[in-house]
Amino acid sequence: MARFIDQLKRTHDCGALRTSDIGSEVVLFGWVANRRDHGSLVFVDLRDREGITQIVFDPDISPEAHHIAEALRNEWVIGIRGRVRSRGQQFSKKEQKLVSAANPNLSTGEIEVEVCEATVFNRSETPPFELTDQTDTREEIRLMYRYLDLRRGPLQRALKMRHAINQVARNTLAAHGCLELETPFLVKYTPGGARNFLVPSRMHAGKVYALAESPQLFKQLFMVAGYDRYFQIVRCFRDEDLRLDRQPEFTQIDIEMSFVNEDDVFGLVEQLVVAVWKAAAGVDLTETYPGGHFPRMPFDEAMRDYGNDKPDVRFGMKHTDLTELIIEHEGGGVPFFAAIADKYARGVLRRDLPGEIVKALVVPASANLSRADQDKLEQVAKSMGAAGLARARVGAEGAWTQSPLAKVITPELRLAINQATAAKPGDLIIFQVGRTALVHTVLANLRVYLGKKLGHIPEVGHGGQWQFLWVVNPPLFEYDDEHKRWVAAHHAFTRPHDDHVDLIQTDPGKVLCYRYDLVLNGFEIGGGSIRLHDPVVQQRVFAALGIDEATAQDKFGFLLSALRYGAPPHGGIALGMDRIAMLLAGTDSIRDVIAYPKTQKGTDVMSDAPSSVGPEQLAELHIRPV
Ligand code: AMO
Repeated sequence: MARFIDQLKRTHDCGALRTSDIGSEVVLFGWVANRRDHGSLVFVDLRDREGITQIVFDPDISPEAHHIAEALRNEWVIGIRGRVRSRGQQFSKKEQKLVSAANPNLSTGEIEVEVCEATVFNRSETPPFELTDQTDTREEIRLMYRYLDLRRGPLQRALKMRHAINQVARNTLAAHGCLELETPFLVKYTPGGARNFLVPSRMHAGKVYALAESPQLFKQLFMVAGYDRYFQIVRCFRDEDLRLDRQPEFTQIDIEMSFVNEDDVFGLVEQLVVAVWKAAAGVDLTETYPGGHFPRMPFDEAMRDYGNDKPDVRFGMKHTDLTELIIEHEGGGVPFFAAIADKYARGVLRRDLPGEIVKALVVPASANLSRADQDKLEQVAKSMGAAGLARARVGAEGAWTQSPLAKVITPELRLAINQATAAKPGDLIIFQVGRTALVHTVLANLRVYLGKKLGHIPEVGHGGQWQFLWVVNPPLFEYDDEHKRWVAAHHAFTRPHDDHVDLIQTDPGKVLCYRYDLVLNGFEIGGGSIRLHDPVVQQRVFAALGIDEATAQDKFGFLLSALRYGAPPHGGIALGMDRIAMLLAGTDSIRDVIAYPKTQKGTDVMSDAPSSVGPEQLAELHIRPV
């Protein structure tokens, strides 16, 4: 019978031992993270998922164990039996005296274990990169050997944090009466929303399943079925272009509740978030948010001030909308202002439809942007699709300098812009003119770029600041400029404000709805809505969207019929679990907090997915190879 494992059971993990354990005999299992040969003594940092313990092989204590230690290499898996002792003192060359040998950076740093007995469970080839906390190794290499990468501290911490988030979510939501229920992944394809991954059916030639982009319809059906409150920690699949905060498969904490309004949903989510922050980061959010309630910002205000429906409110630098001023001053002598004012005057652009706007952002004098900095700013703007970056420096008396605009603008418009933007002498005013969406994208990104450059927010991470925000009351419809029609801004089952129902036919752009996003430090970490359960209003929304009965039936058939069988008022939300973990971990990529993520190109470089399959497998799925 093997001595280790069979007889000698592990007594502690590698992060557990403290000074109170000094003198005890322990059995530890783990990986050699580091081996240092100090003449007769061999020191090994023994690692497992809980931490590192220093173990010492001394030939005077066990010549056999010491012999084993001489052969050890990094990442070998070993077991030891030994006695815990204080690290004691060592001579410091720098200080020329004996100092404590404790390592304050390790939780086990005050102790070490002198080894009495050891075994090698398995050897390891030399890893392709060093498994240290800080690493310069390319991410692709790390992903290729993810099982090694996962031995590194930052990933261990991230995955343990996910565990904590999952546990807290389960406990909190169950305590609030939510049942943890499951929904299918293989579902019917419905157009609209995110692009789906499709799974060809073997049994039904030419037909496909879609991988669920979220449990949305099924969780609503749970409400219709009377399950009252539901949650699920669920994988969702979306075939979208990937970004640092987007993966093709990601995890939602998905919630749906019956007989609730927005306040009820917010209340539950706030309690959940407060509990998650406490458990995962040791942060008590109720100190910042009395009662644990997060502020709310109307969607309109977010767009007006930040050009963005997920503003980072850790700093100011709000945008100023100058469109009305420019129209009033008929462009004030500036050709590209005049062009837009003229379009409004001729009715080519209408104020009730999204079209073109003029917005400004003020960079304070204290930023001291050099010419080169400004050129860089222009490059950043252009990389986001801007034609250029008009700008003017405000001079001593409010005159403009360093700008072609200075020569042509009327003193009246200049004064009005200075006042509207509250720009002071020395400040730089940046302008964007053009299509609303582009102006917003460019200025919203420039604001964040400048926020980082000017040190208002860190390049990466939270900087100890957690700024939560509910963005509420967005419009129900969005104008599709290309096809000149109104489309659902979210999905067609979002409930409009009751007093806006009559505007559905007459002025769709003005209809606001009960949809909400939870935003943290500029990231959307959750989104949901109160659903439209009233068939009469439903019909009016479909009519406004130009969806006739047959199309509605084809697209949403089973949900529509379910809603006719006693659907309670209901609403819900889904939290982006990976984004929450990313923000808590202080990184800027959700790949850092997902055990086995896909690359930016959607590939798994470790297992080599996606991969080709043979003609027989394709034939079975009724697919002809290309
Ligand atoms: P939504 O599409 O807003 O809502 O998604 C909810 C939250 O999920 C996160 N998220 C993602 N995270 C990583 N990678 C992705 N590709 C990705 N896409 C979304 C975001 C987002 O806020 N069924 C609705 C919810 C509801 O109405 O109840 C839904 O899925 O943090």
